[in-house]
Amino acid sequence: MAPQGEAAAEELVFYVNGRKIIEKNADPEEMLLSYLRKRLRLTGTKYGCGGGGCGACTVMISTYEPASKKIRHYSANACLLPICSLYGAAVTTVEGVGSTKTRIHPVQERLAKCHGSQCGFCTPGMVMSIYTLLRNHPEPTSEQMIAALAGNLCRCTGYRPILDACKTFCKESVCCQMKANGKCCLDQEEDLFDKEEKVSTSLFSTDEFQPLDPTQELIFPPELMRMAENQPKRTLLFHGERVTWISPVSLDELLALKAAHPKAPLVVGNTGVGPEMKFRGVFHPVLIAPARIPDLNVVKCTDDGLTLGAACSLSLVKDILTNAISELPEEKTKVFCAVLQQLRTLGGEQIRNVASLGGNIISRKSTSDLNPVLAASNCVLNLASRGRKRQIPLSDIFAHGVSNNTITPEEVLVSVHIPHSRKGEYVSAFRQAPRRENALPITNAGMRVLFEEGTDIIKDLSIFYGGAVSTTVCAKQTCCTLIGRHWNEQMLDEACRLVLKEIALPGSASGEKIDYKKTLMVSFFYRFFLEISQSLKAMDPCHFPGIPMEYRSVLEDFETRMPHSIQIYQDVEPSQSPQDPVGRPIMHQSGIKHTTGEAVYIDDLPSVDGELFLAVVTSSRAHAKIVSIDTSEALKGPGVFDIITAHDIPAANEFYYSDEPEIIFARNKVICVGQIVCAVVADSDVHAKQAAAKVKIEYEMLEPVILTIEEAIKHNSFFEPKRKLEQGNVDQAFETVDNIIEGEICIGGQKHFYMETQSVLAVPKGEDKEMDIYVSTQHPAIIQEMVAASLGVPANRIMCHVKRVGGAFGGKLLRTGLLASVAAVAANKTSRAVRLILSRGDDMLITGSRHPFIAKYKVGFMNDGRIRAVDAKYYLNGGCTPEESVLVAEVSLLKMDNVYKIPNLRCWAYVCKTNLPSNTAFRGFGFPQSGLVTETWITEVADKTGLPPEKIREINMYKKNEQTHFKQKLDPQNLIRCWNECMEKSAYYSRKIAVSEFNKQNYWKKRGVAIVPMKYPFGMGTRHLSQAAALVHIYTDGSVLLTHGGIEMGQGIHTKMIQVASRELNIPMSRIHFCETSTTTVPNACPSVGSAGTDVNGMAVKDACQTLLKRLQPIINENPKGTWNDWIKEAFEQSVSLSATGYFRGYNEYMDWEKGEGQPFTYFLYGAACSEVEINCLTGDHKNLRTDIVMDVGCSINPAVDIGQIEGAFVQGIGLYTMEELKYSPEGVLCTRGPDQYKIPAVCDIPEQFSVSLLSSSQNPYAIYASKGIGEAGLFLGCSVFFALRDAVTRVRNERGLKKPFALNSPLTAEQIRASCADAFTELMANNEAASTALQATSV
Ligand SMILES: Cc1cc2nc3c(=O)[nH]c(=O)nc-3n(C[C@H](O)[C@H](O)[C@H](O)COP(=O)(O)OP(=O)(O)OC[C@H]3O[C@@H](n4cnc5c(N)ncnc54)[C@H](O)[C@@H]3O)c2cc1C
Ligand code: FES
Ligand code: FES
Repeated sequence: MAPQGEAAAEELVFYVNGRKIIEKNADPEEMLLSYLRKRLRLTGTKYGCGGGGCGACTVMISTYEPASKKIRHYSANACLLPICSLYGAAVTTVEGVGSTKTRIHPVQERLAKCHGSQCGFCTPGMVMSIYTLLRNHPEPTSEQMIAALAGNLCRCTGYRPILDACKTFCKESVCCQMKANGKCCLDQEEDLFDKEEKVSTSLFSTDEFQPLDPTQELIFPPELMRMAENQPKRTLLFHGERVTWISPVSLDELLALKAAHPKAPLVVGNTGVGPEMKFRGVFHPVLIAPARIPDLNVVKCTDDGLTLGAACSLSLVKDILTNAISELPEEKTKVFCAVLQQLRTLGGEQIRNVASLGGNIISRKSTSDLNPVLAASNCVLNLASRGRKRQIPLSDIFAHGVSNNTITPEEVLVSVHIPHSRKGEYVSAFRQAPRRENALPITNAGMRVLFEEGTDIIKDLSIFYGGAVSTTVCAKQTCCTLIGRHWNEQMLDEACRLVLKEIALPGSASGEKIDYKKTLMVSFFYRFFLEISQSLKAMDPCHFPGIPMEYRSVLEDFETRMPHSIQIYQDVEPSQSPQDPVGRPIMHQSGIKHTTGEAVYIDDLPSVDGELFLAVVTSSRAHAKIVSIDTSEALKGPGVFDIITAHDIPAANEFYYSDEPEIIFARNKVICVGQIVCAVVADSDVHAKQAAAKVKIEYEMLEPVILTIEEAIKHNSFFEPKRKLEQGNVDQAFETVDNIIEGEICIGGQKHFYMETQSVLAVPKGEDKEMDIYVSTQHPAIIQEMVAASLGVPANRIMCHVKRVGGAFGGKLLRTGLLASVAAVAANKTSRAVRLILSRGDDMLITGSRHPFIAKYKVGFMNDGRIRAVDAKYYLNGGCTPEESVLVAEVSLLKMDNVYKIPNLRCWAYVCKTNLPSNTAFRGFGFPQSGLVTETWITEVADKTGLPPEKIREINMYKKNEQTHFKQKLDPQNLIRCWNECMEKSAYYSRKIAVSEFNKQNYWKKRGVAIVPMKYPFGMGTRHLSQAAALVHIYTDGSVLLTHGGIEMGQGIHTKMIQVASRELNIPMSRIHFCETSTTTVPNACPSVGSAGTDVNGMAVKDACQTLLKRLQPIINENPKGTWNDWIKEAFEQSVSLSATGYFRGYNEYMDWEKGEGQPFTYFLYGAACSEVEINCLTGDHKNLRTDIVMDVGCSINPAVDIGQIEGAFVQGIGLYTMEELKYSPEGVLCTRGPDQYKIPAVCDIPEQFSVSLLSSSQNPYAIYASKGIGEAGLFLGCSVFFALRDAVTRVRNERGLKKPFALNSPLTAEQIRASCADAFTELMANNEAASTALQATSV
């Protein structure tokens, strides 16, 4: 309802891509993203998360400031931008930057040609971030470029190719400065060309690039300038269906509004209010937007500091502080520097550009990075309410505990005063987050000390922490106690103990990182202590000794620098026809369309007449009987059309792929949180979601609720069959070995986090029960089968279409089939088209993950490092239904040997049945877990024998003519080549020495290095799973339409298939088109999984093309000088069929689990990776310094695509092994349901030096053109980072004399690293008293 007595609603005027938009019914709840996509049909801007965390929706906003006559361009997340905030602004979307119909912008061109897109879903967002930077800085520095991309996530590429495109716009040199082996990349390239094999290091040619011409850009609309200059500013009012938006122009007006609506939030950037309304069910009928009020935008430099308006964006604050620091004497800028330090990594640029200073402060979130430092620095808030103005120290708003808000609801924050620092005053800010950039902190701190003049006697001290309790908290008692004390170890010792005593953290029932947070709190203080000790030394070196040399490096934070990279691959033979594209780094077939936003994904499809939207209602209990479902309230909701339950399914609700079913709708009971119980269809997605929230389900809890592997073991809850592989005589071997180790490792699950969430559009065709299903899947045939079975119609009525998939990684198979069935049942019942696009939160909640894994192992070995026996048990958390879990378990057993010959081996794999959403296929399919287990015990054998890990690896590596543990022969020649080349390219031995040298000189920072080999067996285990078909049509104009059963999900399969067809038909790629994968053109296609797409479909495409060529051959022979078009014309006239299917029967693979023998794989890929890291022992933070990968991919069909796959998978592996952490509540609810809580690698996580080489002269007789399927293998190599971290931790522990063996689980997060680098601070946690002496020993 509109507030009484207020003016009528305005027209909202803004521009989009140079076009004027007048919106008469602007709804304050409508965000720019949905407005662009649904109302303006500009679908280039993508939905990835809806909460500002992924950058897929990035647009550029331009505003004009009449006072300064300046135009400001900034990037922003359209998903959090209310359209009402855009009055008078110009929006540029990816469509406005360039398109294939008009002109492709250099950013788009270069990103595509540098292979910076794979699935393409993140690409428009990337384009917009880069484009906006270039609008402001046509020749940016690499630091600016890196910063501009911090808020954009990509799940496919591993960022390297995106950064390569970015570098082409930067001014600086592209030299890698890779000096560790004495060479930079450019010199290395020279070396490479000396060798006999001709190798190449360029995947694109910069000569092709059009120059960036800033004069070509869209201009700011003159009408908006005139509006800003001539129109008097007036209050704007917009009424929506439920919410009113009021944007006043004066402070008095604002205060009056606040008095009238004290509960109404002020909305500036909407980065606080927006997520609360969207995700936490908070509702505000009135929103007040104060951004246009001059008092809230003031920037005033005074004698004692800076006064900044509360509505100033964080980016503006950052710029102002940077400026002030450059102009003022250092002594005055300590506070500014500390605030700036936090601003650098707070959110991404898109967030900082809109989020306001006042919003960050007033939200009083525990995770505010600004409040602790501003509070510690004595900043002052200028508050106003009607008839009253006052100033309070910022620290007061946290003064009396959590719930006391000293700011009244009628008050607004007008501005903030940030003081200059004084002589003898020092300020610092610290933060530790799950990811270095664009991640909320786990704990942060702001600290300030003022000394009596010329002394080290504390005159004043402030310590504030964030992340510890529910808001910022002050260690007041501690500070008071320490006043008058000297800045020395005794003070440090006492401070740490006082802080821990004073700041009581709530209990750890919720799985919070309590010990870690406490450790961080004291570690931050210690770091502050070191910093200030150094500063005192700088002030007076005679009196203050400073800190030892080896402590100094910890004072420097890790920074993200533009990575240097090199990619090496074998060139095609000079004799190869220039037209033949095989072996060349051809750009992704959709690359340009990805970058212009023209590539169409499911939710980009135009709406079908009468289309309905579907929202699912999911179980909130892990194991319960459904007592009742009350839909009455939901059905009353606006626009609600119907509610679909299991009763609406005409035929099958359950699918049996093993003994236990996969279920579409829960019928009588639920077996996990997130199981679909029913679904709402409505006229819009908003209405569907609102109604879904109103469905009431009553449950009766059932026992037991099993969530973890341990609980499943306790309840003997497993899926059958259990699998075992055994060879040799394990028990006997254990009796003869010198040593035995036993251990256990836990490996957490991993979310696919494909950027395009699960999406389906089901369109009933109106006759014969036919239905079109447009779906984002890797397996259209199973979607067809499941939909047909659920509707009770033959498969020939269901047509599945897949143009492209915005990332899948194994996550779009069976689960997608269930979701497609939900949509199809709804479409069938309503006879209307139904669209189901899962929100990121629902997607993560419902769809399961990579299998969490526990391995228990016993390893017997000789003193010389030879491993003689392994006895292991693997437990996989399968979730609530069998899905493909047993297959994953089998693969984990078959690949458990990695590259090692273990003569006596026994291993069991058990799939635990739990009450988690069903876990599913994920790139690597069991190998990333079992391979990590193997490399873990290899490393432990090294620890025990005292031999270096690489020696243990070499000693046990497969030799010629050996067999695997299931008796399959393999030839390890290329494995050994990869290993040796990786050793050489990474300069492993000299770097190891350099690492030791670094570690000697640095106490709190340590480096580690590890090299890990890999064998990746290729195969589907049985022949029928690798059959494939293709269909090729030649039209009379000579153009070719190609289709096959493979799915394009970023891995470039269509590009490769066109390369194959081009070679076979001997025509340019430009004549061949791929339209879509569909069950109507290729029936019964196998899923695109297991790295097999190119192998098997390539064979089928080749077959089809050869059939056609055979038919054309007589005509060609007749007229050998004719053109392709002549021959086709002639063929048509001679009634020669110009359409052919091609077929590949599949590989002859089998496995006999009874005997434990078989030939489940056709060939093996090999690789090796060497990684180096640096850790900060005080925080557990780390930086990936360098990775060198050598990979055997046979003869690459497309080196750009293959290298892209290796790098992308590797970075996903870094995520799996070092940062991606799934957290569940004790009730089984997944807590990590979006990019805010679940951190996948971002630009800051890729190695600073990153090199990938494809092994040259490698042949593979089994696959198309001697290539090898490469989609999955690289992921495992991410564990080289895990082992490099382990190496660093080991070195820390050795130095500290910690001899006890230690175990590290995956992901190896900062928390674990910190806990493993045990020191006086961690001990302090365990034993406050006993540690005090130890603490003194480590302090200076
Ligand atoms: C993806 C993402 C990442 C983030 N990362 C970080 C991070 O790393 N570190 C961090 O510290 N923060 C982070 N944030 C939080 C962000 O900094 C804050 O949400 C932001 O500063 C709030 O400003 P806003 O203008 O968007 O607030 P809004 O959402 O517009 O308002 C927030 C609240 O502040 C109140 N308010 C705003 N201005 C005033 C005023 N002048 N007077 C009184 N009340 C006012 C409003 O009433 C409202 O309750 C992140 C947010 C997102 C979405
Ligand atoms: S969709 Fe907007 S940031 Fe993810
Ligand atoms: S290309 Fe970036 S998410 Fe797929």
